Amino acid sequence: LSSMDQLAKQVEGLSLDAIAEKYPNCYPAINPFDLYRAHLSNVLSELTGVDTKIIYPNLQWTQLDKGDFVLATPALRLKGKKFDELAKEWAEKFPENDPLFEKPIASGYFLSFFARTAPLVKAILPTILATGSDFGRNTFLGLRDPKDPSKGKKRIIVEFSSPNIAKPFHAGHLRSTIIGGFLANLYDAAGWEVTRMNYLGDWGKQYGLLALAFEKYGDEEALSKDPINHLFQLYVRINNDMAAEKEEIAKKKEAGEDITELEANSLDEQARRYFKKMTDRDEAALAQWKRFRDLSIVRYKKTYARLNINFDEYSGESQVSEEAMDKTAKLMEEKKICKEDNGAQLVDFAALVPGKEGKRLEKPLVRKRDGTALYLTRDISELLGRHEKYNFDKMIYVVAVQQDLHLKQLFKIIELLGFKDIADKCQHINFGMVKGMSTRKGTVKFLDDILRDVGDTMHDVMRKNETKYKQVEDPEQTADTLGISSVMVQDMTGKRINDYTFNMEAMTSFEGDTGPYLQYAHARVSSIRRKANLTDEEVAGADLSLLSETHAVNIVRLLAQWPDTVQNTLRTLEPCTVLSYLFKMTHALSSSYDHLQVVGSERELMKARMALYESARIVLGNGMRLLGLSPVDR
Ligand code: ARG
Repeated sequence: LSSMDQLAKQVEGLSLDAIAEKYPNCYPAINPFDLYRAHLSNVLSELTGVDTKIIYPNLQWTQLDKGDFVLATPALRLKGKKFDELAKEWAEKFPENDPLFEKPIASGYFLSFFARTAPLVKAILPTILATGSDFGRNTFLGLRDPKDPSKGKKRIIVEFSSPNIAKPFHAGHLRSTIIGGFLANLYDAAGWEVTRMNYLGDWGKQYGLLALAFEKYGDEEALSKDPINHLFQLYVRINNDMAAEKEEIAKKKEAGEDITELEANSLDEQARRYFKKMTDRDEAALAQWKRFRDLSIVRYKKTYARLNINFDEYSGESQVSEEAMDKTAKLMEEKKICKEDNGAQLVDFAALVPGKEGKRLEKPLVRKRDGTALYLTRDISELLGRHEKYNFDKMIYVVAVQQDLHLKQLFKIIELLGFKDIADKCQHINFGMVKGMSTRKGTVKFLDDILRDVGDTMHDVMRKNETKYKQVEDPEQTADTLGISSVMVQDMTGKRINDYTFNMEAMTSFEGDTGPYLQYAHARVSSIRRKANLTDEEVAGADLSLLSETHAVNIVRLLAQWPDTVQNTLRTLEPCTVLSYLFKMTHALSSSYDHLQVVGSERELMKARMALYESARIVLGNGMRLLGLSPVDR
C-alpha cells in the first residue's frame, strides 16, 4: 500500500478510491490535500451538523502563514448565528487529538487549520517521489465523464502566436507565444486533448505586393537560406517603392497632369490584381505564395522549438476558403445581420444589440465595395470551420488587448448567427503591451533576433564570474536557455493584462525573481543530488520522521500545495499564479540550506533531507516545464 493508502485507512477507515467517490473533484491518490479536506469535512460536519458536501468545497488552501486551509464560516450558510462566535465555538470544540490537524485558530469569522507536521511529511514526500513528473497533473479533470474514461477527453483549441508573414514579429506575438504555450501545457496537464494552432497572417493584398517584390528583387538563394528575413526585406523595399510612387502621382495630380494611366499601372493596382489572381485560385500565383508560406513555416518551427512549442496546425487567413465565406455571407443575410452601405457590407451592432453593448460594438465592415473579405470576415468562417472540424469543447484566442473589440465583434456575430452554444465555448485571453522592446542592434524584427540578443547578454553576464563560467559544459547552450528563461519569466511575472517594460538588464540578472535566478535554484537543488550520491532506493526508504525542523516542514507544506496551485491556475489562467508559487519555493529553499545540510550529515539524516530536496527538485522542475521553461541541472 502507498503511504497515502495507509493514511486514508488509518484516519477514515476507507480506501482512497472510496474517499474519491464521495466528492466531486476529489482525487486523494494524486492530491494528498484532497484526503485532508475529506477528513476535515467529516470532523467539521460532526461539530456543526452541516453536510460534508457543503463543507468540502469551501475548505480553501491559503498562504502558509494563515494555515494550510482556511474556512470562512459564512460559507456554511447557517442562519441566525454570529459568524465570529461560530468560528470561536468550533475552534474550541475541535478534537484535541485529531490525527491530521492541530486545533484550528479563529480570527474574525475565519478558521485557520494547520496540518500536523509528522503525518504531512509522510504523506507528501513519498507521493512526490513516486509520481515524479506527474505530480501536479490531474488528467481526470479533462475527461468528459470522470467516472467513465471511455467517453473520452474534452477538446480544446489554443490559438496563439499567429504572426504575419513578411512582417515583423512584434511584442504582441511574443507575449501570445509565451502565454499560449503555457495555456496549452496547462490544459494538457489537466488531461484535455489540446490542439495548438497558429493562425498565420498570410492573406490579403499585401501578399500580392510581396509576390511583385519577389519578381522584381527576389533572390532564390537568399529565400531558401533565410526566408523570413528575405521576405521582410522585400516587403520593406517594395513598400518604399510604393510610397515614392504615391508621392509622385500626388505631385503630378497637383500639377494638373493626367494620372489615369499611372494609377492603372501603379504598384498598388498591380498588387490588387495579383491578389485577385490568388483569390481566384490562379495556379502559378498560388504556387508562388505557397512557397513563401511553406519556407516561412519551416523557419518558424525551428524558433518555436527553442521555446519548447510545437504547433499541431498552421492554419492562417489564407486557409479560409471563398466558398466558406460565401456560405457565411448568405447566412448573415438570412439572419439580417449585415446591411449594405455604399456598396459595402457592414454589421450595424447598434441596430442588432440593445443598449450600450450594441453601441460599443461599433459598425465593422465584412465586405469591401470591391467584394473582398476582411480580417473579421475570415475569422467568422474560420471559427465555424474549426468547430465543424474539431467539435471543440473550448477554444482560446491568445491575442493582445488591442483586439478586444475585434474578438467581441467576432463572438457576437457567431451568437447572432444562431450559434450561441459555440460562441460560449470561445474565450479571448488578452494581455497588455511590452514597452521599449529593442535589441542592441536596433528595434526588434523577429523572434530569433530577440532570443539571440538576450542569449548574448546572458553570456556576458555569465562571463563575469570566471570560476563558475569554467564549470559550465556548454556555455553557448546554457546562455541560450537562460536567455529564453529571462524573457519568459519577465513576461510571466505580472498579471497578463498589465503592460511591462522590456528590461534586458533586469531580466538577465541572477538577483531578484528572475529567470536566471529560478534556473539557479533548480541547478542548485539538482547539484545536491549529485553530490550526495544516494540511490533512488536509499532516498525512497528514508526515515522521514527525521524531518521536523521548521525549514523542512515549511518546504513540505509548500510542496503539498502544488496540485492545488495547478487547479487554481485553471481558474485564473495566469502564468503568474504558477510563477509566484515557484518563487515562494525558491525562497524557502534558499533559506533552508544553512539549516538542513545534506552532504556532511549523518547517513540517515542525509537520506531524509535528500528526500526533501529531491521532492523540491521534482516540483520546481514540473512547474518550470509547465511554464514552458527548460530547467537546467548545472
Ligand atoms: N495575425 C494577427 C495579428 O498579428 C493575429 C491573429 C489573431 N487571431 C485571430 N484569430 N484573429 O494581429
